[in-house]
Amino acid sequence: MEIPFFDLKRQYDCLKEELDNAFLRVFKKGIFILGENVRLFEEEFANFFGVRFAVGVGSGTEALHLSLKACEIGPGDEVITVPNTAVPTISAISFAGAKPILVDITQDTFTMNVKKIEEKITNRTKAILPVHLYGHPTEMEQITKLAKVYNLKTIEDACQAHGAKYRGKNTGTIGDLGCFSFYPTKNLGAYGDGGMIVTNNEELYKKLIMLRNYGEVKKFTSKIEGFNSRLDELQAAILRVKLKYLDEWNNKRRDIAMLYQQLLEGSNIQLPCEKEWSRHVYHLFVIRANKRDALKDYLEKHGIGTQIHYPIPIHQQKAYKILGYQVGDFPISERNAEEILSLPIYPELTTEEIEAVASLITEFQNLM
Ligand SMILES: Cc1ncc(COP(=O)(O)O)c(C=O)c1O
Repeated sequence: MEIPFFDLKRQYDCLKEELDNAFLRVFKKGIFILGENVRLFEEEFANFFGVRFAVGVGSGTEALHLSLKACEIGPGDEVITVPNTAVPTISAISFAGAKPILVDITQDTFTMNVKKIEEKITNRTKAILPVHLYGHPTEMEQITKLAKVYNLKTIEDACQAHGAKYRGKNTGTIGDLGCFSFYPTKNLGAYGDGGMIVTNNEELYKKLIMLRNYGEVKKFTSKIEGFNSRLDELQAAILRVKLKYLDEWNNKRRDIAMLYQQLLEGSNIQLPCEKEWSRHVYHLFVIRANKRDALKDYLEKHGIGTQIHYPIPIHQQKAYKILGYQVGDFPISERNAEEILSLPIYPELTTEEIEAVASLITEFQNLM
């Protein structure tokens, strides 16, 4: 049986007519930048997440970058985040001119160890940037508390966590700003790049609207220095269709995760945890196995696609040696990089496919 790590054709096949029509309507209208689809999608997204404002931007990376810019974070400033994240979390900080300061993760949720934040706060710290990795929320209470005490901004990287909840609240809506990616494989994915920033702060919202569009307050009148980072009409039209299915898809991901958990219970691999205060949306289903590479090869040989998120922690990436960290500085992230493996998880995965993946894992373990 061939089971790809992800398969976007399956989702398209289910929604073909709706998606084709959405695309065609944009072509026929002839407006491709900042038209009614972007405006309506921003409204719908804000309503869905229960926030006042949403700003469509070019990508998740840009959502983070513009958020930092809106908070006037730049050269000389420090932003606290984690070493086990997608590189764009970090490049957004360094492109804003600030320095990423890393804090290791917890062994169960693989998200920021909030007990280790305070020791990293200096008079240069301007923001905490937690990453709700794999779709599991970070413990936000302590972050919100520290942000208040030290007068810091909180910018949530919710690029993998559309619809995840922390104590009943949507991730991305708890801090000052929340950033989402619509990279095609995300829980809510476009057919190209796209991103969204959400906030309840009107001042930040107004700045973001300018920042994404050359700093303009009106056409050809730039009030601040800005960029070109806009969600486009075609992507917004597609995302408006898909947003209606997000809850259903997240529930399917949760069902698949539960089935994996049942089938793999009792094996000696670490399965994803879901804290009692969280709603995990399983953007990724990440296990930890001590013979990870052999397991990956075994699954590959049997037609099962897997990936590693992420194989090299940020401080060990050549591009970020400049941060000055050493091997051994973040032991949990470093060990995880050697042992984690992401299994296929997408709403269209069938029960037979999930059972096939789980039984191959069990078979592999019996061979060891
Ligand atoms: C945790 C995290 N942050 C940021 C990003 C950047 O998003 P994008 O690829 O849309 O720029 C991604 C997606 O790749 C991500 O997974």
